[in-house]
This record gives sequence, C-alpha cells and structure tokens, in this order.
Amino acid sequence: MSSAETEEVREKRVVFRADAIAKIYEMGEVKVRALRGVSLELYRSEFIVLLGASGSGKSTLLNILGGLDVPTSGSVHYLDQELTASTPEALTRYRRQHVGFVFQFYNLIPSLTARENVELVTEIAPDPMDPREALEMVRLGDRADHFPAQLSGGEQQRVAIARAISKRPDVLLCDEPTGALDVQTGIVVLEVIARINRELGTTTAVITHNAAIAEMADRVIALSDGQISGIKINDAKIPANELSW
Ligand SMILES: Nc1ncnc2c1ncn2[C@@H]1O[C@H](COP(=O)(O)OP(=O)(O)OP(=O)(O)O)[C@@H](O)[C@H]1O
Ligand SMILES: [Mg+2]
Repeated sequence: MSSAETEEVREKRVVFRADAIAKIYEMGEVKVRALRGVSLELYRSEFIVLLGASGSGKSTLLNILGGLDVPTSGSVHYLDQELTASTPEALTRYRRQHVGFVFQFYNLIPSLTARENVELVTEIAPDPMDPREALEMVRLGDRADHFPAQLSGGEQQRVAIARAISKRPDVLLCDEPTGALDVQTGIVVLEVIARINRELGTTTAVITHNAAIAEMADRVIALSDGQISGIKINDAKIPANELSW
C-alpha cells in the first residue's frame, strides 16, 4: 500500500479529532488551566484508557468529547460535525444520538427498577435496543425487575452500563467506572465494557487512576498537568479477567 492510501485508510477511521484544545476555568480572580493544548485523534472501535494524576484534566477532556462541556479554545470534531461550532441544541442532539456515559457513581433512579432505568434512555433514542437485551448484555437479564437498592455496587454499575449502551451509542465514555468498586467487581465491570467495545464496535474511552487497567486498552493516553505526556500502543492487550491490582 502506498503511504497516501495508508493515510486515507487512517482518515476514514478517525471518529474524534481534537485540535489544540485548552480549557480555562475562571473563578473570580483565579484561573485554572485544566487543559493546555491537547491534540488527539480517536479511531473507530478502539478502546483507549486515559491515565493521569488527580487534576490532570481527564474528566475535562472526556466531558468535552462527550459534548457536556466546551473548550475555551481549539476545536473538536466528531466525524464531520464540529462540536466546538455547534449550538447547545445540536450538542444535545449529538449526545443523545451518539454518546453513552458511565460515571463512578451510577446515577440510577432509586425508585425505578433496572429495566425502568434503562427505559429512560430507550424511550428517547432513535434506534434503541430492547431494555431486556441491554440488561442481558451486562448479564443482568434476570434482575430486570429489581430496584437499585436490591443490587450490589457492581450490579448497579452494570445497569448504568446497560442504560448507556441501550441507545447503541457510537461512543462510550466512562469516567472511573470502577472507582467505587473492589477489584473483583471492578474486573467484572471492565469485562462488560470490553465486550461491548468488541461486539458493538463502540469507540470506548475509560478514565482510570489505575495503571493496571491500561493493559486492556488498544492505546493508553497519559495526561499530565493538562497536556498529553505520552501515548502508548498496546501490541498485546490483556483481557480484563487476567488483570490484577
Ligand atoms: N467546574 C470547574 N470549575 C473550576 N475548576 C475546575 C472545574 N472542573 C475542573 N476544574 C479544575 O480543572 C483541573 C482538571 O480537573 P479534572 O476534573 O479534569 O481532573 P481529573 O484528571 O479528572 O482529576 P480526578 O482524577 O481527580 O478526577 C483541576 O485543577 C480542577 O480543579
Ligand atoms: Mg476526574
């Protein structure tokens, strides 16, 4: 293959392109530079892990990719859509159609069952899964009628993942999905995320403090003080169930 063709193939796989993004939070006199010139491409169906110390800008970057926040300068494209030039309505549409989020604390509605929590998303998505199918993907098909309080932390996180993937998102963004879980439960949750990445081809980004988790990624992006300090390609990924920390 000529190098021009290689370039073209690579271009086709780009899902996100962030160009020199900076984020400054201004609070009165104080300016916090959360991101200081981050440029990055994410590719279709890849699994990336974002590593970095507390305060390095991981959540800020993920929130910008997910259209929950906008940078102070620089541009972000999702395919042909420039998120940084989109109206708030267009950003909401982008999030609703394309992005699934998973956070450290599961944010389930306590008065709704697992199935009803998933239905919150499937009822407004254009091409959703059946809620039961989403719960089966996270191996909770038999717990659909249980309330969050009747589920363990890891099970609640899997319901949150089922909710996030039930709209068949192109992108799954996870901010410390195992942060509140013990090792064994965390591994089960990571296995679920990896399976969704594999089976649905969902471009997946997982934030963690835990360098062991980086072994399961295609690429590991390290952030330090608001900048990318390194990108590592894992030639041999380690399956979640073989990780230990
Ligand atoms: N809404 C906000 N207002 C002001 N400063 C903020 C805000 N959100 C984040 N910051 C600051 O921006 C910097 C980056 O924060 P961010 O949450 O992205 O870090 P992080 O890498 O996710 O950290 P952690 O691992 O602790 O979650 C920090 O200094 C933080 O205090
Ligand atoms: Mg964070």
